[in-house]
Amino acid sequence: MIRIDILSVVPELLESPLSHSIVKRASDKGLAEIYVHNIREYGRGAYRQVDDYPFGGEAGMVLMIEPIFNIITKLKAERDYDEVIYMTPDGEMLDQPMANRLSCKRNMIILCGHYKGVDHRVRENLVTMEVSIGNYVLSGGEIPAAALVDSIVRLIPGAIGDEMSALSDSFQDELLAPPVYTRPADFNGWRVPDVLLSGNPKLIDEWRERESLERTKKLRPSLLKGED
Ligand code: ADE
Repeated sequence: MIRIDILSVVPELLESPLSHSIVKRASDKGLAEIYVHNIREYGRGAYRQVDDYPFGGEAGMVLMIEPIFNIITKLKAERDYDEVIYMTPDGEMLDQPMANRLSCKRNMIILCGHYKGVDHRVRENLVTMEVSIGNYVLSGGEIPAAALVDSIVRLIPGAIGDEMSALSDSFQDELLAPPVYTRPADFNGWRVPDVLLSGNPKLIDEWRERESLERTKKLRPSLLKGED
């Protein structure tokens, strides 16, 4: 059982990705417990203020430390957390080994930034790990958090119907997955490779390995050189 607490000022953005498909199935099966907390509920005053102008006068707003500190302190009083992760474009790049590592944890908090980001003291004092999903800037950390959660939860044994399936994903053995086909074997003259229809498991395995290697050489040569 893995527990993930996500902190956000726009929790609505996380509703759909967490309530369908594999993540939903993993929650229903009791393999993962995922909670979304609205940072605004911990905001100050009648307006539940959660952001403010940056010191030094720059454009944009910054998420305040106090509401975030209050939620994290409350959660930490209830259980121990292995990681407090902040989603940010300047974090460590999410890749399959990172997802594998995180899928072995028990409890984690994921903080989604917004606007200009969070007061840097949150990152200095409360966050244990910073994660990026790529070298581009999104409007907030929710979509990155949904990507991270999906990449982790699908790896929990039992989350995917066929237990072997996550192991044969692209990147799991530093190779891209081979192509897949389904019926019909011939669609308007576009044929499925004969070997897949041969019924010969040895030939099929060899074909898949060859295709994986060829596709990796062509599309992601850096994986073979161990650069990624
Ligand atoms: N927040 C905004 N852009 C992001 C990115 N690329 N990765 C993680 N968090 C982000």
